Amino acid sequence: MAKISKTAAKERIEFLKRELERHNYNYYVLNAPTITDFEFDLLMGELQGLEKLYPEFATEDSPTRHVGSDLTSGAAGSDFVQVPHRWPMLSLGNTYAREELLDFDERIRKAVSTPYHFSCELKFDGTAICLTYRDGRLLRALTRGDGTKGDDVTRNVVHIPAIPQQLHGENIPQEFEIRGEIYMPFAAFERLNAERLDAELDPFANPRNAASGSLKLQNPEEMRTRGLDCVLYHLLGENLPFKTHTEALHAAQGWGLPISEYSRRVDDIDAALAYIDAWDTRRKTLPFATDGIVIKVDELDLQRQLGFTAKSPRWATAWKFKPEQALTPLLSVDYQVGRTGAVTPVANLEPVQLSGTVVKRASLHNKDQMDLLDIHIGDYVYVEKGGEIIPKITGVELSKRPADALRPQFPTHCPDCGTPLVRDADEARHYCPNRESCPVQIKGRFIHFAGRKAMDILAGDATVEQLWDRGYIHTLPDLYALTREQLIALEGWQEKSADNFLASLEASKQVPFERVLYALGIRHVGEQTAKTLARHFGSIDALMAASRDDLVQIEDIGDTVADAILAWSASDAARDCVERLREAGLQLAVSDTAESRLSDKLEGKTIVISGNFSISREAMKALIEAHGGKNAGSVSGKTAWLLAGEKAGPEKLKKAEKLGIPVISEEEFRHLIAE
Ligand code: IVH
Repeated sequence: MAKISKTAAKERIEFLKRELERHNYNYYVLNAPTITDFEFDLLMGELQGLEKLYPEFATEDSPTRHVGSDLTSGAAGSDFVQVPHRWPMLSLGNTYAREELLDFDERIRKAVSTPYHFSCELKFDGTAICLTYRDGRLLRALTRGDGTKGDDVTRNVVHIPAIPQQLHGENIPQEFEIRGEIYMPFAAFERLNAERLDAELDPFANPRNAASGSLKLQNPEEMRTRGLDCVLYHLLGENLPFKTHTEALHAAQGWGLPISEYSRRVDDIDAALAYIDAWDTRRKTLPFATDGIVIKVDELDLQRQLGFTAKSPRWATAWKFKPEQALTPLLSVDYQVGRTGAVTPVANLEPVQLSGTVVKRASLHNKDQMDLLDIHIGDYVYVEKGGEIIPKITGVELSKRPADALRPQFPTHCPDCGTPLVRDADEARHYCPNRESCPVQIKGRFIHFAGRKAMDILAGDATVEQLWDRGYIHTLPDLYALTREQLIALEGWQEKSADNFLASLEASKQVPFERVLYALGIRHVGEQTAKTLARHFGSIDALMAASRDDLVQIEDIGDTVADAILAWSASDAARDCVERLREAGLQLAVSDTAESRLSDKLEGKTIVISGNFSISREAMKALIEAHGGKNAGSVSGKTAWLLAGEKAGPEKLKKAEKLGIPVISEEEFRHLIAE
């Protein structure tokens, strides 16, 4: 590193410290990094170099000396308890250069006097977790936090199937800790992002962010749907009987803990380098993301002898894979209008090979992102996949910019219907506000409504296009007024296809309420949110009558979702649509058919309700039934609970008291069905 003036070095160090802290926050707390890991490592490397040259400016609080913090306790909406780590949870030194691995080996050779081996392991790209087991049972799960204390996420971790709550087998230590990584396999990641895009929520940038975001969910139930997995790679405890790391993990595997099947114990650094070379290609076939290889001294006595620096062990290091990049010209930018009117800029690229696939298009997310990249048509742009599935543009090669290159103009009007676009104050997206008559939005709504996860009607893009062109459909209920004659008259349709279509329409009348709610395509209401709302309100009427307070008090319903629901409920179009769908016979409340059962929590219980609730009495009855319970009109010896709302009838209360029937509030009831 070239020497610079002292003042310049001081300034640069201050700048790098601020930048790295900011990026740590974006990465660990917001789960939304704005630079790549590689760029982060470059900044960190520069700071390390400068601090070495100018030790007088190297402070205790430098990001080179502590790990990034994922602590969210105290943040809005978060209520995880912070618990101190028994042993600090450190990070790993990392490198992209082979010589540095040889240096690592050299340092060990000099420090120890007995032979040593390496354990070579995949570096799983997830979020670190520390599990404590006592008497064979899972006691606690902590995130890395700031390295000295972590967020207690036990209530969420118990929903990850890979993590056993009870161990089995021989010689299980009375108490021990085991650390590892919680990660989201690609398949689950793609599914989750598809759902998020569908609900017009921002997709997670990569599986790592998705995993750590999921781990901090406030609704543990939702964890189950996230498809998280876990691998453990570091056993700690007092007086454990193992001589090597490999032996310790092998024992842990015997107790039922998930250990990587890809780790190898090797004799020397050359063998470790061969392991790295093999996995550089092979990792692309794995169903989950890895960002490198970890090399650890296998002998535990030597690990103790080598010890730690402020931030990482001297007995281990990480080789990081460079993200695969391609450089290709940007041909043009399309502006796609989604079914909720959001306008997404999509880059058309000169097709280029990247990680085994040809990339032709990449999302530019929104106008801010385009401005940040300062992208011009004709620019050579860097495309990256890294751990991500959707390729993204990470930078522009300015040296190759053509002299006459122009900035693409973000449209001021909807590319489809010409309505002036609007931008929500708190969102980076532009929207076409012409919800009622913008053709792409309307057609998009039908395609969404008919989708398999929604009403499952036999109407794909082409059918919707045909029905739209003929002027047969404008609002969703129009589908239920289509006649056999109209369908047969469509180009390419026969009697059979018309009958199949009509049969699928008929069958859609049995689709449970939660899916109908999702099918309506309310902004920000994806599959999961629709389930939560259906479960809470029980009917469309109760939902439409809900106030802002009613909505935001529900777990996982934030301001954005609440506002979207309120705006939708208040519109005449929504009210008209709901009334016509009701006439058509759709399920607009939870019912007791096996298909729409939400749970069996109230199986065999008879519940009497009295008074007013946050939802209508009809909706409350439906909710009881949806959880397997029975509703009765009067209190008797057979009553399990009297569910008393505001202004509950004094007669019923008196009778319940006389017969010793427990009286529960709406809150207690909701607790009961949510547990
Ligand atoms: S060992 C004291 N082994 O990478 C050393 N870490 O960048 C403990 N990671 O904080 C870490 N795979 O979250 C170790 N096979 C592996 C790993 C691994 C992924 C993560 C871990 C660590 C981070 C460092």
